[in-house]
Amino acid sequence: MKKSGKYNRILVTAALPYTNGYTHLGHVAGSFLPADMYARYCRLAGYDIIFICGSDEYGTPIALAAIKEGVSTKEIIDKYHYANKKAYEELGLSFDIFSRTSNETHAETAQEFFLNLYNKKLLYQKTEKQLYSEKENRFLADRFVVGTCPICGFEEATGDECENCGSALSPNQLINPKSKLTGDTPVIKDTVSYYFPLKDYQAKLEKWIDSKTDWKPNVVNYCKGWFKTGLQDRSITRELEWGVPVPIKGEEGKVIYIWFEAPIGYISMTKELFAQKGEPEKWKEYWQSKDTKLVNFLGKDNIIFHAIFFPAMLMAHGDFVLADNVPANEFMNLEGSKQSKSKGHAILLKDVVNKFNPDSIRYAIASNMPENKDTDFYWVDLQAKNNNELSAILGNFVNRTFVFCEKYFEGRVPESGTFAEIDSNIINSLKSYVERIASYYENYKFKDALGETMNLVRDANKYFNDTEPWKVIKEDKARCGTVINVCLQLCHTFAILFDPVLPFTSIKILNMLNTGKENFSWDKAAELTLNNGHKLNSPEILFRKIEDSEIEK
Ligand code: 2FM
Ligand code: ZN
Repeated sequence: MKKSGKYNRILVTAALPYTNGYTHLGHVAGSFLPADMYARYCRLAGYDIIFICGSDEYGTPIALAAIKEGVSTKEIIDKYHYANKKAYEELGLSFDIFSRTSNETHAETAQEFFLNLYNKKLLYQKTEKQLYSEKENRFLADRFVVGTCPICGFEEATGDECENCGSALSPNQLINPKSKLTGDTPVIKDTVSYYFPLKDYQAKLEKWIDSKTDWKPNVVNYCKGWFKTGLQDRSITRELEWGVPVPIKGEEGKVIYIWFEAPIGYISMTKELFAQKGEPEKWKEYWQSKDTKLVNFLGKDNIIFHAIFFPAMLMAHGDFVLADNVPANEFMNLEGSKQSKSKGHAILLKDVVNKFNPDSIRYAIASNMPENKDTDFYWVDLQAKNNNELSAILGNFVNRTFVFCEKYFEGRVPESGTFAEIDSNIINSLKSYVERIASYYENYKFKDALGETMNLVRDANKYFNDTEPWKVIKEDKARCGTVINVCLQLCHTFAILFDPVLPFTSIKILNMLNTGKENFSWDKAAELTLNNGHKLNSPEILFRKIEDSEIEK
């Protein structure tokens, strides 16, 4: 297997989606799509790579959704887990496993992790005053309570985080706390919590992040901001029913805080993946050897948990590898304002993935990915990108090549003959294109990778126009054959280079070329792999036009 720098294998994760609702396009842009493009690129490049994800099923977001919908938590997680999983498949997300934190393996793994720190006396107990709703007879943990953010003044912060400034909060910090469900003003009651001493890890974390030269500036800047304020120890237990029970005698009513337990899901799901493959010990290779490159993809609201809290937990535990990179994206807003499932302002993946070509959705998002700043999704952009780029540039090139070949060369790859300068120029440009695009993927620059891939197709169209096969066929069939041969070779190159972003199209092109996957790898992308005389399949349209009426709807 190919090495990635000093690493022998790559472990890719996408932030685990809560099962309290349907996934929207903001989530796709934030973490799923970049993670999938990266994972697909890594597979093609020949790395030993696994891609892990699953549903985040505990904690107050789920408990609240259950209360709101008047059903059990189990019904809620089943409903959204299966619906989201199906939508991800339809979008072509290529997880090696998409599991769930409500599985037994996860509870065991999280409890072991908790106990490891507890037994090393790293955790401490604190009796503290917590918000309690007398009306509801419960402690108001995390999202059960809303109030004003003490940092930025945002009035709808929840007890775990401020959506506006990204700060991690605890319920007691909220100004004017109110119960999310009843609006009840809570009273204060004493309870015992277990704390993780995050403060003690600040120096180590700062040193670790300072050593990272290739992290995105947005991620580093967030972290520096939190270091400047000073990290606070975090309570890692909650008085809740719905969660992984705290594995300590006498603490039966408590569960582990989700932001402690959920990221451990990456580990437990890797265990499940290899258990399913009949290699139950193999997960250790990925998590417990220093030559694994761990890359966590996520949206900016999760940076603190992946770049600070989880790494500190891993440092405290000591047996696991830390992230090599945490390439977080900013948000993709919808027509000017933030997508939010709770506010009903969002495009749900399940609603669009069947209405449009999933590759068109992937392309529209990838070409406008919020890599360094927030971006906006506009319906008309989806239409424009599908019609003016995918259909008019890529679809057109592939289609005219195949139609021409079928018409004049009986659908067989024509003899390549001797290359003229114009042929050699485009063929010779492939190597540097392929290298440049690879380097963009390696550096998490997905927009650039895609832009450069499209530039190559633009070159290919120019090549077709300049060589004028429709004229040459009348004068010199052999020369025309050379041109079409080159165009078909380029189609194979496109099948490879577009797989990270347009996986369904890539398969369609391969099928039309009637080739299997024997040359389907990044190192073959600049090579001419089709043999003279090879029989092709009939062409099919890659992208149908999206009509105005569909967008208006
Ligand atoms: O923000 C979210 O949607 C969380 N469910 C992400 C969890 S990522 C992880 F650490 F599990
Ligand atoms: Zn805030």
